[in-house]
Amino acid sequence: MQVDVVETAPRDVEADVLGFAVPEPTELPAAVQQLDELVNGRLTHLVEDGELTGSRGAVTLVHTIGELAAHRLAAAGVGPAAELDADAVRAAAASVAAKTGLTGGRTVAWLLADDGLPLAEEARAAVEGILLGRYDAGRWKTNGMPPTPVERIVLCGRGAKAVAEEAREAAVVAGWANRCRDIVNAPPNELTPVRLAGFAEEVAGGSRALTVETLGPGEIEAAGMGAFAAVAQGSENEPRLIRLAYEPERPVRADVVLGLVGKALTFDAGGLSLKPADGMDEMKSDMGGGAAVLAAVGAIAELGLPVRILAVVPACENMPGGHAYRPGDILTAANGKTIEVTNTDAEGRLILADALWYAREEGATHLLDLATLTGTIVVAMGDFYAGLFGSDPDWVGEVQAAADASGDHAWTMPLHRSYRRFLDSEFADVKNCPDKKRGSSIIAALFLQEFAGEGPWAHLDIAGTAYIDRARDPFPRMGATGYGVRLLAALARRLSA
Ligand code: BES
Ligand code: MN
Ligand code: ZN
Repeated sequence: MQVDVVETAPRDVEADVLGFAVPEPTELPAAVQQLDELVNGRLTHLVEDGELTGSRGAVTLVHTIGELAAHRLAAAGVGPAAELDADAVRAAAASVAAKTGLTGGRTVAWLLADDGLPLAEEARAAVEGILLGRYDAGRWKTNGMPPTPVERIVLCGRGAKAVAEEAREAAVVAGWANRCRDIVNAPPNELTPVRLAGFAEEVAGGSRALTVETLGPGEIEAAGMGAFAAVAQGSENEPRLIRLAYEPERPVRADVVLGLVGKALTFDAGGLSLKPADGMDEMKSDMGGGAAVLAAVGAIAELGLPVRILAVVPACENMPGGHAYRPGDILTAANGKTIEVTNTDAEGRLILADALWYAREEGATHLLDLATLTGTIVVAMGDFYAGLFGSDPDWVGEVQAAADASGDHAWTMPLHRSYRRFLDSEFADVKNCPDKKRGSSIIAALFLQEFAGEGPWAHLDIAGTAYIDRARDPFPRMGATGYGVRLLAALARRLSA
């Protein structure tokens, strides 16, 4: 992916399409009015006829027939001018990218306007929108007409050169977000735990600062990970514990090791507490946390951010069968705590319990886990905000700030010890599933906290945001969103300062 930032006149920018934002009430930005003169006022005519508007999601394409160096203009509505933010620009750029994919738009240019948004933010949002919006998930279609991939992005407009660095970084991170989407969209018959470990090896191959190690079933059991091993035992596909370490040459703070833990159920059938058939196919995406963690480390290493990272991704399947773990089983986790299994579908917290403890033992000072953990977070927050939980207000604040800056949105949720009573078991230290759904996302987070050891820990419940069953900005199509990659890159950037 090539990103060029130019300050030549927009009329001279060569591209398949040159996009720009149009606010509401509909008004052409100053730089666009100059272009309009060169296309004989066609844009103004379209505005007057109500065919070109600033309403959100509207994209109006205009051919230039030799009047400009760019082949087409794309006017993209961003909604009310007073509400303009990075989300609006990202969504508009995504719409332009999606709409021009079938016309072969390999070079997409964007005209940065002086519209009140800081230029760096606008540049990042435009680049991300173009790359996320063009993504196509139809890799398995034999007669598909895949949209043309974007090969080059050109940012133009006054002052553009000042934000070249941000634009290039955004392209790197969005590229990794799309790789994450490839992994999450992949079907579970292809993307087994072993294949996910293969992806981690690919990621590690990209930088000398990265090393990957994987533990198989024997090593997982030998390490005392009785909770992880139990979930995995019902499947013919072997589990893997993936450990990806990033050791930059000159970390800003040698005493900080960011521990990233990602839930990776390559398929969650629910186990013996079997899920209903409706929507079970979506449980191929139950490795969204693990994929985001691995891809984010790839992005952070490519950017060379000076922060030490230890990523731990427990990968397995949750299947019913003769070897499956049972409701009623009592497991011993790596930290020695005993867990009564009351529902085998509450499996994510079990594999994370051992992975969190392992990450802490291996030296992580600041833990953050990403997990498609609960259906109730989907009910509470839908597909736009993830739920953010944590024990340490400073650390939660840090993660919240990264979420706000990145476009991977999160909302801080309460984590009061009062809810802990729903995990009390008559037989063991804790049970894995409360008998009622109420407060279930908070209770799941409290379960994780029991295994996170000493020191700051935070948890993102991404069940609603990692995989969407219908379009939402800036994703024109259903499927994986790559949620977390941009957030984690922003977090690493904050810890590098
Ligand atoms: N992977 C699911 C959660 C999920 C639900 C992810 C919907 C994405 C979309 C998780 O393992 C699960 O089954 N959770 C149960 C927990 C319950 C048994 C306490 C749930 O949310 O119903
Ligand atoms: Mn489950
Ligand atoms: Zn699950």
